[in-house]
Amino acid sequence: MSRFWSPIVHTLTPYVPGEQPRVDGLIKLNTNENPYPPSPRVLEAISGAHPRLRLYPDPRATSLREAIAAHYEVSPGQVFVGNGSDEVLAHTFQALLKHDAPLLFPDITYSFYPVYCGLYDVAYQEVPLDDAMRVDIADYRRPCSAILIANPNAPTGIGLSRETIEALLAEHPDQLVVVDEAYVDFGGESAIPLVARHDNLLVIQTLSKSRALAGLRVGFAIGQAPLVEALERVKDSFNSYPLDCLAIAGAVAAIQDDAWFQETRTRIMASREILTRALSGLGFEVLPSQANFLFARHPRHSGADLAAGLRARNILVRHFKKPRIQDFLRITVGSEDQCARLTEALRGLV
Ligand SMILES: Cc1ncc(COP(=O)(O)O)c(C=O)c1O
Repeated sequence: MSRFWSPIVHTLTPYVPGEQPRVDGLIKLNTNENPYPPSPRVLEAISGAHPRLRLYPDPRATSLREAIAAHYEVSPGQVFVGNGSDEVLAHTFQALLKHDAPLLFPDITYSFYPVYCGLYDVAYQEVPLDDAMRVDIADYRRPCSAILIANPNAPTGIGLSRETIEALLAEHPDQLVVVDEAYVDFGGESAIPLVARHDNLLVIQTLSKSRALAGLRVGFAIGQAPLVEALERVKDSFNSYPLDCLAIAGAVAAIQDDAWFQETRTRIMASREILTRALSGLGFEVLPSQANFLFARHPRHSGADLAAGLRARNILVRHFKKPRIQDFLRITVGSEDQCARLTEALRGLV
């Protein structure tokens, strides 16, 4: 604490990211990173971009917005890019979610959302997931200014169909619906095809998970042009160059290498199914996941004990000390070998 702090700093409860320890041989299944490397074309593109380091990058990251637009069949004017989807979310909170009526999001979801509400002074209400830990869109029929849903949700991994998202959009034509699709490439249904006919939809995605680029920090939003314009206005009042020239070049290559993307995500989804069966066989209740992680609890062991036991065996998973979910572990789907070693370690613990 210091007398130089702005008043708001005293009120902030910052987000606590998953640990990134530097421990030899650690099996790191705590932050939903991709176990496989990014496309080899990413490295080539980054090496090729270094002569441009002397110059400021393109403030609008035009080549990347064009690559994303071509991939998702939208126009470049419907694409906004940022330094990780966390930054895209932050600008969304400031540009589009601060109104008198509360923003709604689930009680169990990405824990950065309430942090941004604190930073940007956004009124919000948490809507409880149902008993099966699902989002029920009927629970969102209440006064609000906007709705924010992670789909698939984190940390549950449970997804909503595109049809359900469309029903939510139709029920709230005068509220913005933001769909955070950080994990959608692992079997979920993206809402991007709905953007053309719904001016109240903003979809946010990241290259951190399915494209294995968490270290490069690239995220994007797709929505109709006026929504993108609001995000651009905030961005240009904050940092004109959020994406450096290496990130732009690498991200374009990642988006364009569809074969790599398909192969690695398919492999992760196959491992997820094997791991789900293995954990169920050990007595775990495993929520049905459409993400690159599982959310699971054991009837006879606390989440904290299991996480500690795994840690003692050099395996890191995520445990949240939060009501309703303190008995669960969130386990990133790793490589085939990592999943097998996790299963063996859990067999010794339960
Ligand atoms: C639901 C959700 N949204 C957004 C993010 C942020 O991802 P990034 O900032 O790496 O793009 C995460 C990261 O874990 C997440 O779980």
